[in-house]
Amino acid sequence: MRVDVLFTPHELADRGLSGRAVAVIDLLRATSTIVEAVANGARAVLPAADMDDAMRLAQTLGRSEVILCGERRSRKIEGFDLGNSPSEFTSAAVADKLVIMTTTNGTPALLAGASADRCVVAAYLNLSAAVADLLAAEKPIVLLCAGRGGRFSLDDVICAGSIARALRQQLGARVRMNDAARAAMGLERRYHPHLNAVISRTGAGRQLLEAGFADDIPMCLTRDRHDVVPVMVDRQVIRAV
Ligand code: MLT
Repeated sequence: MRVDVLFTPHELADRGLSGRAVAVIDLLRATSTIVEAVANGARAVLPAADMDDAMRLAQTLGRSEVILCGERRSRKIEGFDLGNSPSEFTSAAVADKLVIMTTTNGTPALLAGASADRCVVAAYLNLSAAVADLLAAEKPIVLLCAGRGGRFSLDDVICAGSIARALRQQLGARVRMNDAARAAMGLERRYHPHLNAVISRTGAGRQLLEAGFADDIPMCLTRDRHDVVPVMVDRQVIRAV
């Protein structure tokens, strides 16, 4: 079984994802927030490519019928209902609601992963459930990191390393990995004992601290807080498990 890590969605340019099971990872914070929203009963999360796309979707579905959420530079977008902090996505806020979300890197990465046979939203918050779902798909696995501004982002890569390690534990000698997956596992092994401090010093972590969301970092690093698997079906993220 193949397990490949892609450091950014740009690496997809020359290959499609058909026949693959993909986990999209934007640890800080889009995929963590989606896991939280779906675990707390959101009917579906609709990822939007940008603010115009989000507004168009909201108008089509009816502005009063949806929760509009997202961030730019980690701060809530003016006129939106919620930002992108997982702590905002309580059951009181999102249960039974349609959530339209636009974030800087996370929602474009999800849309890039949508062509896969199975597209799973993954984070530390649902790591074991996501791993079980990827294995059950019985297809070559791609761990797609959202990155930051089209570049390598250490927080996503460390999370991909944790997922790759969990997959290797299950698959044993049958697993074949690309160099990026080996590098992600090496970084995860190196940094794992000090995860909170290391993630806080990444570009994404520093941006969150500056925007006043320090508490989101330990929350996003909580492993297996939820036993849920959000999956993308027809451009909507819904709860599969
Ligand atoms: C992103 O998509 O870049 C993020 O999720 C940013 C954030 O939430 O601060």
